[in-house]
Amino acid sequence: MTNLKVELSERSYDIKIGPEAFLLAEKAVRKLEKQNRPVAVITDANIYSLFKDKVQALTKNVIVLKAGEKSKCFSALAQTCSALADFGMDRSGAVFAFGGGVVGDLAGFAASCFMRGVDFFQIPTTLLAMVDSSVGGKTGINIEQGKNLVGAFHQPKGVFIDTDFLKTLPKREFAAGMAEVIKYALLCDEKLFCLLEKNALTRESPEMAKVIKACCAIKAGVVSADERETAKENGRALLNLGHTFGHAVEKCAGYGEYLHGEAVGLGLVLAARMSESLGLVDSECVSRTENIVRMYGLPVSLRSPIKPDKLVAASLHDKKNAAGKSKFILLNKIGGAFTRTDIEKSLVREIFKTAQK
Ligand code: GLY
Repeated sequence: MTNLKVELSERSYDIKIGPEAFLLAEKAVRKLEKQNRPVAVITDANIYSLFKDKVQALTKNVIVLKAGEKSKCFSALAQTCSALADFGMDRSGAVFAFGGGVVGDLAGFAASCFMRGVDFFQIPTTLLAMVDSSVGGKTGINIEQGKNLVGAFHQPKGVFIDTDFLKTLPKREFAAGMAEVIKYALLCDEKLFCLLEKNALTRESPEMAKVIKACCAIKAGVVSADERETAKENGRALLNLGHTFGHAVEKCAGYGEYLHGEAVGLGLVLAARMSESLGLVDSECVSRTENIVRMYGLPVSLRSPIKPDKLVAASLHDKKNAAGKSKFILLNKIGGAFTRTDIEKSLVREIFKTAQK
């Protein structure tokens, strides 16, 4: 079992990574119960049908969301909060998010606002949640105007990454998680990029535990330095490499059409192309990015056309925007990135045009 710490003074917490991490989550529940603190688990229908015994071993207070991005909405949040109230959740209690990114974001947001905030823990079951969304305290839901536009920073009290869950992860979900892994490599870890492009890793690859740890260590460092993404340059916003493009694709195609990681995979390619257009990287950097995204079964172009103007408008609603300026994360090499706010709308449009088949 590996332990990583997210250093955030009084909000610091541990990330446990290993095949037995679920047992530690169970132990944490038993400890809370001994202290007479109410516990609830939030999961989704897929996880519930796969791991009913595990869910029930945690607690009888279980909230099962519909699987998929559409559950990141106000009505699912309202139903979740009502169920927490019915379970007798109080301020001393804790919510456990058991599932992928959607479950973690919704459960974390419910925990942030129920009774003005209760503790929560993450038990991620998808690769994407293991390497990204379960760490760092970003929680929230989508609204019509954009993804994650309503939410809160609410750090978990602990994250239990049980790598055995990878074994049952559908291939499409694994690929979506690899988009975030590729993102970390492109951002700041050329060695990781070389490892990923040498041979396509699979759910069974023994290297996966090491790769997850490397990604979580990068994320923990970035979050410790800029928890609320307030740095004027670089900082936590760097973790959104590919996301301005990806969020626009998710929104315009209709939430759920692309898995978040699929849209991010395409977004990484578009970020590399934009970097090349600005003379920041050469064509080899772009082709290596395209090849690695393709190699992990992720899209390098849109599955069906979407009008570039629609995509540009959607990207202007991104949370990273401030004072009317869009923030883009650009590459200056494989393993090096920075933020820029002076990108012309016409260039954004040109880059989205390249995403059409
Ligand atoms: N997924 C980006 C972040 O947590 O900041």
